[in-house]
Amino acid sequence: MIDNFIDNNSLNLIKEAHKKKHFLHIPSRKDDTFKDLMPWKEINRILRQHRLRYPRLRLCMDDKTIKEDEFIDMLQSRKGPIYTRVTEEKLYPYLQNGATLIINGIDELYEELDFFIGNLERLFKSNIQANCYMSWGTTKCFNTHWDFHDVLVFQVYGRKKWSVFEDNIRSPLFKDHHIEGKPPQKPFWESIIKESDILFIPRGFWHHAVALNEPSLHLTLGVDFHTGVDYVSWLGEKLALYEEFRKDIPLFAEQGEIDLLQEEFKNKLVTAMETLSLETYLKSQASEFSHRGRFSLPQAGSSSIKLSFKSKLILNVPHISDYKVTKEKVSFFTKQKKYEFSFTYDPLFKLLFDYKLHGVSEVISCLEKKIDLDNLGKLLNPLVTNGLVALVNLNDY
Ligand SMILES: [Fe+2]
Repeated sequence: MIDNFIDNNSLNLIKEAHKKKHFLHIPSRKDDTFKDLMPWKEINRILRQHRLRYPRLRLCMDDKTIKEDEFIDMLQSRKGPIYTRVTEEKLYPYLQNGATLIINGIDELYEELDFFIGNLERLFKSNIQANCYMSWGTTKCFNTHWDFHDVLVFQVYGRKKWSVFEDNIRSPLFKDHHIEGKPPQKPFWESIIKESDILFIPRGFWHHAVALNEPSLHLTLGVDFHTGVDYVSWLGEKLALYEEFRKDIPLFAEQGEIDLLQEEFKNKLVTAMETLSLETYLKSQASEFSHRGRFSLPQAGSSSIKLSFKSKLILNVPHISDYKVTKEKVSFFTKQKKYEFSFTYDPLFKLLFDYKLHGVSEVISCLEKKIDLDNLGKLLNPLVTNGLVALVNLNDY
């Protein structure tokens, strides 16, 4: 279960669909499951409170992007710099005429969604970006197309008709975006999805969606997974540290010398891959995917952390590996770095590993030796300063 939005059964179906690269539609059991994931109230707030412009904010109709200055005013401050404001009276006619309003990377603009996407990222050990699509008419936003990453669709509000076609371009990569192909004539799946339905569309599967002359809001989550090409590119970078691979390939070599060199490369590569294994690659990637760090101000701006019983703590790094405890210390690997702390931190880390918010009293009672707020502040100082732990609910502070 992730944040009450996806149950375990749906998660298992998505994992299976990703593994086997098949399309998936999960009909909802309850209409309002996603209502808090992206409420209209938040859309209206984002449009009002952020200086949005293309490509973050986009209006699209019939596969064409409408120029941003058609609905966004460029204003000039007295000191000179330009800032933007979306203009209601210019925006609405486009929406009424069938344009789709898109806010890209909307997870960065709404905390509830940011939290949910962060939890999904930890589960998939991959970067995820959420884009929001809002339509009112019956005009397509994009023509039938395929994406070079897997897509999860969450229908938050209203309904939408989707058509999905077979993937005649198999496992496309980002560098293949210029490939012009044609979708198969008939979709293998076409249906109207309703509120709280989920779709999983693997990369390369052609698709398009149309609204039904009523308001529709959906989120698409683009999920970057690792490919064999990613592993080999990473391996290539690491091999640059080996003398054998840094040397020139002789310009005027005889065929025999080339064959010998080929054999040397092959042998060295096989040996190197034992250390630079796929497992090592995945571990290194897991420790560095997108970091949705929370800030801990005002406390982290001072050299000593001052806590109150209203302060709450949360683990602030997406992935921790190689967690080890000895009689003297705990150590672990995250953000491409090895960290070491005294063994007294062990119960604290174990408490925080659930990525939930924990109150100060709970933290104190988990420690072997009871300490007061001042000493807890001292204990937390290196964790907060290194961005490993965040203090939140600061309004209560
Ligand atoms: Fe798409």
